[in-house]
Amino acid sequence: MTEAQGLLQELQQIQNTALETLKAVQDETGLQAWRSANLGRNAPVMRIFSRLGEVPKEERPLVGQQANQVKQAIETAYNEYETRLHEAALQNSLARDRIDVTLPGRQPYHGRLHPSTQTLRRIYHIFAEMGFQIYLSSDVETDEYNFELLNMPAHHPARDMWDTFHTTREGVLLRTHTSPGQIRVMREYAPDPIRVILPGMCYRYEQISARSEIQFNQVEVLAVGRGITFSEFKGTLIDFARRMYGENVRTRLRPSYFPFTEPSAEMDIECFVCGGKGCNICKGSGWLEIMGCGMVHPVVLQNGGYDPAEFTGFAAGMGPERITILRHRIEDIRHFWANDIRFLEQF
Ligand code: PHE
Repeated sequence: MTEAQGLLQELQQIQNTALETLKAVQDETGLQAWRSANLGRNAPVMRIFSRLGEVPKEERPLVGQQANQVKQAIETAYNEYETRLHEAALQNSLARDRIDVTLPGRQPYHGRLHPSTQTLRRIYHIFAEMGFQIYLSSDVETDEYNFELLNMPAHHPARDMWDTFHTTREGVLLRTHTSPGQIRVMREYAPDPIRVILPGMCYRYEQISARSEIQFNQVEVLAVGRGITFSEFKGTLIDFARRMYGENVRTRLRPSYFPFTEPSAEMDIECFVCGGKGCNICKGSGWLEIMGCGMVHPVVLQNGGYDPAEFTGFAAGMGPERITILRHRIEDIRHFWANDIRFLEQF
């Protein structure tokens, strides 16, 4: 066998071994190791090149050509294998991150407003459309504003209508209704005309039960001006009731008593559960009481800084929780401040 024949045979051997060992390669690391073994500086095929000198001159091109071909064949095998590895990796990751587009979407969790806040905002909206502004006054009040200036001097029997949380500070209490705000707005704006609502939390010293709570919201309505009449008072409240409960709602004013209004009334709407026929929600009467109201008492106007000979006004107070209870037939008022998500997320 000539030198050249020997090298040609060796080259064939090198190619066969290289391609055979490639089959055992599993991953990128294995492939790189294989590459440096078969194509690196000391790879068998590379060593053939340095041995070309052993071959007679005229046979050198043939062996050289063959060596080049083998090297190329090994390089091609390497490239193909690498492409295959990449494709497999891509397939794997596609399979892993597969999305089943036929699955129903997941509902994102929505935060929501407390039912009382929702009702409050509807009330604000309606009164805003009628030109009323919102006025906030504080939860902590004085006996003077909560009672005295509202025409209830000390020991007035009507004070019993509001069981009161007193503080350790003489004459300081938690407001039992939003009505003390009437005096505060009047004193701030007299002698200008007033059209405001006063929303806020009120507190009463009650036994907590399904029907009564120690805290609840009220929205006070107050209008003061020259020549405000009872029919304007009635018209405004009926308009409110229609916007709140529907165009066709029936309303009625029942005579009542509050020391700070004269005359005083309570407004009822026809029971929207039974349509007036009588049910357990309206306790068989066909009517639901929605607010206390009346023409502002002259003494209160005076206390607020308005001359009752010149000014008149009307006031009303309603409870958003009561409205929400009626609307959604909530059977226990304690749900409102219990912060139970199972209750809150129903609204
Ligand atoms: N403040 C009264 C209450 O708490 C409601 C009311 C407000 C009545 C305004 C008349 C006028 O019951």
